[in-house]
Amino acid sequence: METNPTPYKRQIFVCTNDAKGEKASCGDHKGEEVFRQLREIAKARKLHPMIRVAQAKCLGQCATGVNIMIYPENIWHRGVRLEDVPTLADRYINT
Ligand code: FES
Repeated sequence: METNPTPYKRQIFVCTNDAKGEKASCGDHKGEEVFRQLREIAKARKLHPMIRVAQAKCLGQCATGVNIMIYPENIWHRGVRLEDVPTLADRYINT
């Protein structure tokens, strides 16, 4: 096993789990679309994959979704909605 520094400047993990109404989940609030839009912005700004928007399949806080976890800042956003995407992009998808 090798141990190395992370190859990314930043990783933005967006929960895209969708329990389809069987229990609360980030899918109730369009987690997958939040992920898709953030990923597209990173690509459009030519910052992907240096700033990597990744899908997470449940971050363990399902009742407060959409949940987003950001490293290396060690920040957690909960209750994210599609209308928050521009703010998140301006804050985290930049050089
Ligand atoms: S479904 Fe998103 S944290 Fe569990």
